[in-house]
Parts: sequence; C-alpha cells; structure tokens
Amino acid sequence: MSQWRNPLRDKRDKRMPHIAGPCAVVIFGVTGDLARKKVMPAIYDLANRGLLPANFALVGFARRDWSDEDFAKLVFDSVKDHARTPFRQEVWDRLAEGIRFVQGTFDDDKGYERLAESLDKLDAERGTGGNHAFYLSIPPNAFPVVCEQLKKSGLANKREGSWSRVVIEKPFGHDLQSARELNSVVNSIFPEESVFRIDHYLGKETVQNILALRFANELYEPIWNNNYVDSVQITMAEDIGLGGRGGYYDGVGAARDVIQNHLLQLMALTAMEEPVNFGPGDLQAEKIKVLSATQVMQPLDQTTARGQYVAGWQGSSKVVGLLEEEGFSKDSTTETYAAIALEIDTRRWAGVPFFLRTGKRLGRRVTEIALIFKRAPHLPFDKTMTEELGQNALVIRVQPDEGITTRFGSKVPGSAMEVRDVNMDFSYGSAFAEDSPEAYERLILDVLLGEPSLFPVNREVEFSWEILDPVLEYWASHGKPDSYESGTWGPSSADEMLHRMGREWRRP
Ligand SMILES: NC(=O)c1ccc[n+]([C@@H]2O[C@H](COP(=O)([O-])OP(=O)(O)OC[C@H]3O[C@@H](n4cnc5c(N)ncnc54)[C@H](OP(=O)(O)O)[C@@H]3O)[C@@H](O)[C@H]2O)c1
Repeated sequence: MSQWRNPLRDKRDKRMPHIAGPCAVVIFGVTGDLARKKVMPAIYDLANRGLLPANFALVGFARRDWSDEDFAKLVFDSVKDHARTPFRQEVWDRLAEGIRFVQGTFDDDKGYERLAESLDKLDAERGTGGNHAFYLSIPPNAFPVVCEQLKKSGLANKREGSWSRVVIEKPFGHDLQSARELNSVVNSIFPEESVFRIDHYLGKETVQNILALRFANELYEPIWNNNYVDSVQITMAEDIGLGGRGGYYDGVGAARDVIQNHLLQLMALTAMEEPVNFGPGDLQAEKIKVLSATQVMQPLDQTTARGQYVAGWQGSSKVVGLLEEEGFSKDSTTETYAAIALEIDTRRWAGVPFFLRTGKRLGRRVTEIALIFKRAPHLPFDKTMTEELGQNALVIRVQPDEGITTRFGSKVPGSAMEVRDVNMDFSYGSAFAEDSPEAYERLILDVLLGEPSLFPVNREVEFSWEILDPVLEYWASHGKPDSYESGTWGPSSADEMLHRMGREWRRP
C-alpha cells in the first residue's frame, strides 16, 4: 500500500496527473466482447492521456494460435472502433512495442508457464518491475480455475517490492452461497487488497459525484434523511432487448444482472454516512454498514414485482418478445424487469422506502437516483392553486444526459397565486468543457495505482446477495413473471406495488 495516495487529501499539484508506475496488464478473454469494446480501448485512452508509463506492457492470453502481431492487430481494431479519444499514431506505436501474446487454455499448465516466461522477459527487457495485473474478462465459471493456475504457476505471488493483482468482472456469484465460494477461492490465492472487483458503475463520473454532492456541500446533507425524504427511487432502464445475449441472460434475469450489483451500490452510496476519509477501506466500510442494515420489505408478494417483455413498439420499430428472441427457451421464466422495495434500519432512513427497479425494452434508456421529498406540512394557498404541485425531488441523472435536477414549486406568472412544478438543472455537458472519461479508464488506472476505493469488497458482495436471495427464492417458487409490452414502463404489477404504498413511479 506504500504508493497509495489519498485522492481527496492529495497535496500535490493537482495539474499533475496520477500516472501508473511500471507494470504489465495480462488480459484473459481478449477475443470477448468486453475486452474488445471496453478494456483494450480504455487502455489506449489511458496511454493517449499520458497516464500509462512509457514501458507499459499488454499481454493477451487466449486459446487461439496467434502471434504477437495477430494480437496487436486485434488490439488495433478494437482501439480504432471503440476508443474514446482520437487515434494518434505515436501513442499507438509506443503501446504496440509492449504488446505480447501467449497461447493457452484456462486449465493448461504449459500455457501459464509460457505466460510466466513472457512476463519475466518483459520485466527484464522493458522494466515492468514484476508488477502484474491479471484481468479476467472471461466467463464467470472460469474465475476459479484461472486463479488456481495463477497460483500454481507462481504468478499470483508478488515478489519483494512488486505487486500482483487480479481484476474480476461481475457477476460475483449467482447467490450468496456461490459468492461465498468464489470469494473463498479467490481470497485463498490473492489477499483481499489485491482483488479488484469491477462494478463499472462505480467508475462513472456521475456516480462519484454523489460523494461530491453530499459531502462537499452544506446544502443537501441536512435534508438527506427521514425528516425530509419521503422515498427514494433508483432506476436503471434500458430500451434494448436481449437479442444475441440469450445464452448469458437466460436463467440470470434482471435482479441478478443489475439490482445485486449496480443498483445496490447506487443505493449504498446514496444512503451511507460520511466516510471518515477516502482512504483504502473507508468508503467500503460505510457501504457495508448500509448494506448490512438493508432488507427487502415484507410481504414479498406486495413489495416485489417482476416482468418479461412481450412484442411491442420501440420507437417506430416493431420488436419481438423475449420468448421469440434467439437463445431463449419458449418456457423461459427469466425476468427482464425487476422491482423491489427495501428498508434500511438506521436512524437516518427508518421509515423511508427505497424502490429499486430495472428492466429491458422499457420506454427510454435512463439511469437515475431520485430523492422524493415529503410535502410541505402546510400550504397557505387556495387548494385549487396547488393542484399541479407535486413533491419536491432531487434527481441525480447517472446516464444519459448526465447531471442533477431539482424539482420544486414555483409561482405561475399572472395575477393568481398558482403554484406549479418547475425544474432547475445542472448538466455536465454545459458546465464543464472536458468530456468525462469512460468508467473503464478510471477503474483500470485505479487498479494500476493500487487505489481500491471504487471496487466492492467481498463483504459488500455477500451482503448484497443476502438482501436479494429471499426475493430470488420467493420468485423461483411462485410461478412466472408478469408480461409487459415492449416500449412501456414495465408490468402493471409494478405500478400496483407502489400504489399500495401510496406512491407512484417516476416517468423519467
Ligand atoms: N460484455 C459486457 O459488457 C460485460 C459487462 C459486465 C460484465 N461482463 C463480464 O465480463 C466477462 C467477459 O464478458 P464477455 O461479454 O466479454 O464474454 P465473451 O464475449 O463470452 O468472451 C469470453 C472470452 O473468454 C474466452 N474463453 C472462454 N472459454 C475459454 C477457455 N476454455 N479457454 C480460453 N479462453 C476461453 C473466449 O475466447 P474464445 O474467443 O476463444 O472463445 C472469450 O475471449 C464475463 O464474466 C461477463 O459476465 C461483461
């Protein structure tokens, strides 16, 4: 941890970027979607921004019979197609010098021996210093075997004065039991401080801005509690369906895919207390406290809803239902929409329901956190003058159109004292000149810098499953999801769920 720097208390010149030290990144699963569309382009973008060391090395490990040049071509294509920043030949040429390929399958000892040789050579020739990050962009069932092999080949052991880290992509298990098993295997090989679990939502600027909004201002924190907040709605809505992703999604569903990780992380950041500091473990400690105090409200038939999309219209296109999508069995009960109501047993949040929902083929692509405030205890206006006044709201728009909206009542111009809702808006696009980096740029750089704050630790993952497991078990033993038409905002059972609690879903 010697090179860890507290980003909030850093006294260095803030114009000096944090540049990673000498190191090599080894990617497993280089031909996969994630590696090609996100990980490798983000590495190029970091190089382009001058945040990687000149002697950086990138090693691909895959079962193809490829040369270094073949792999470099794959990286080149993925950079050309998906990098955020402009292509610059000199940046590419420098990056390409450190690109190597090692052929092997996940369980083949010889492949890992070749990998160890290649890394030793890079350490000697390019001075990568024995610092290695192993990025597992592979099917989740292969995490244990690759970790075991890294141990067997000695690659998991950091040498004196160097580091060895493993990066794991979600899903971290499919229930509490499997998450515990996975954590136990991973932690028997890599100490927790060397394990970087990626929930890419935590790398988003708008998500980190929750911390700035809450803890760098005096305006919001005094009202951020059950004295003023009526309820919280956290939404991740997608307008796309599951064409082409059947194999991965069938049997997983919306709750496991999104609520267990992204939405519970957003909830934890929204509900947690102020961390003592932003040092290693401080942020996670506060999130752990919230997650350990959270449970799904009861009874589950009233406080949860799930749905599966059927054919409908997405904008001007006619789209098919889930069961007609390729890769789904005709009797699949996988939910594409999930909503749950949570309670957090703390002094700050007692009595405030947190509603989490996510779905595919909904009306619009949007992720937001909305704090809905209580109504004013008394309105000294004629009742007819406040008919269009709703509840005040603070909405953090995570994506797209990143920003923050405050909704409050304002007098309508004219002689009557009519009051109606208006919005006050902050938008990243107009407030800042520079574009936000991609979440993967920030997270990969943090891995290389050894800054762990934005990565969920094993206990967070386990508490999240502990919250969700009862819902998954209840759904598994209670028939099929309700249907909802594509392009709408989910099944009617989700609306009824909120009506029963005297609330309504926002229509973002
Ligand atoms: N895609 C996303 O946006 C996304 C988002 C969040 C999390 N994730 C997670 O990230 C991981 C990777 O996702 P993905 O979408 O990139 O998966 P993917 O497209 O299925 O790619 C999997 C990769 O693993 C390799 N592989 C599979 N079995 C192998 C074996 N036995 N030996 C050697 N290589 C093997 C594949 O190589 P071959 O080409 O040789 O088959 C491929 O490169 C998964 O854990 C996923 O859940 C993905």
